[in-house]
Amino acid sequence: MTKTNENLKAAFAGESQANRRYLAFARKAEEEGFTQVAKLFKAAAEAETVHALNHLRIIGEIKSTVENLNTAVSGETYEFKEMYPEYIEAAKQEGNKQASWSFDVANQVEQIHASLFSKAIEALKNKKALEKVDYYVCGVCGNTVEDSPPDKCPICGAPKAKFFKSA
Ligand SMILES: [Fe+2]
Ligand SMILES: [Fe+2]
Repeated sequence: MTKTNENLKAAFAGESQANRRYLAFARKAEEEGFTQVAKLFKAAAEAETVHALNHLRIIGEIKSTVENLNTAVSGETYEFKEMYPEYIEAAKQEGNKQASWSFDVANQVEQIHASLFSKAIEALKNKKALEKVDYYVCGVCGNTVEDSPPDKCPICGAPKAKFFKSA
C-alpha cells in the first residue's frame, strides 16, 4: 500500500470518529443549554462526514451495492464472532460492567445486522426487490428491527418509545 493510501485510511478513521464525537458533544451542549455551541458542533460534524466520505471514495472502498453488502456482512461477522467476544471477556475480567454491557448489546445487534444484510444479498441474487419495510432503531442499544418497534426491546429491555424510525 502506498503511503498516501495508508494516510487516506487513517484520515477516514479520524474524520469518522470526529463526526460521532462532535455529535455527542452537540447533544451535551444542548443538555447544558448551549444551543449555538450545539449548532456549531453539528455543522463541524457534518463537515467531518464530507471529509470522511471524500477519503473513502478516493481509497476506492465504495463499490457496487452487492460488494458493499458483502463487505458489511464480513465486518459485522468479524465483530460478533471475534472482536466483541474478546472485548466482553476482557471487560468482565477487569470488572468493567458498563463496557461489558456496551460490548454485549453491540455484539447482539451486529448479528442482527449481518442477517439483515444477508437477506438483502439473497434478494439481489434472486433479482428480487427487497421487501419494502421501515426500520426502527433502539436509541439505547442500537437494536435494528423491521416494520414496527416492539413494546419492549428484546436486547436491552428499553420501552417502545426509545425506538426511532430510520430515515
Ligand atoms: Fe452493525
Ligand atoms: Fe434496545
